[in-house]
Amino acid sequence: METMKTILSRKSVRSYKDTAVSSEALQTILKAANASPVGMAKYETVHMTVIQNPELIQEIDRAGAEFFGDLSKTPLYHAPVLIVVSTKRTGVAAQDNVPCANVAMIVHNMCLAATDLGLGSCAIYGATAALSQKEELVKRLNLPEGFVPTGSVVIGETEEVFKEREVPMDRIDTNYINK
Ligand SMILES: Cc1cc2nc3c(=O)[nH]c(=O)nc-3n(C[C@H](O)[C@H](O)[C@H](O)COP(=O)(O)O)c2cc1C
Repeated sequence: METMKTILSRKSVRSYKDTAVSSEALQTILKAANASPVGMAKYETVHMTVIQNPELIQEIDRAGAEFFGDLSKTPLYHAPVLIVVSTKRTGVAAQDNVPCANVAMIVHNMCLAATDLGLGSCAIYGATAALSQKEELVKRLNLPEGFVPTGSVVIGETEEVFKEREVPMDRIDTNYINK
């Protein structure tokens, strides 16, 4: 796909088949993650955890449902792959813009790569926030010291089709300063 076609075809997919994602596809998606820009090229400040263990995915899903206060929800949408992106954070909002942006770049690069491969994807921050508060679940990610799950992406095959979408140009309020 051409870049603009991929960008316009990407959408958040919230229903997945229970088939596994091929290791070739996963490697391409992880390559896209590794191609992401990261502030000051500090790649050592981000970490990815690729989870394909259905029980662990289900436990994180459950933590997300509890977080949203509705156990009927499945915030990971039964996707077969969850990739958690973790980073170190200072807890000071003004200083955490770069680590949070790094994670968003990585997550979005993976979403675009998944779209290019005809796979569904969705950025997951709600259930990631829930995960980050569950110490016993975070331990199971085997993260390096000091890293906090910050954003995630779910990926999987889907019945949904990808077509270029019409994007309203006023979707994001924009002002121009020319002089
Ligand atoms: C930072 C961020 C966090 C998001 N978190 C979630 C999430 O936790 N669950 C979810 O279903 N979608 C999540 N989304 C997807 C947005 O809801 C979605 O991008 C938005 O509604 C626009 O729809 P589109 O992605 O189909 O264009 C997130 C997106 C971003 C950029």
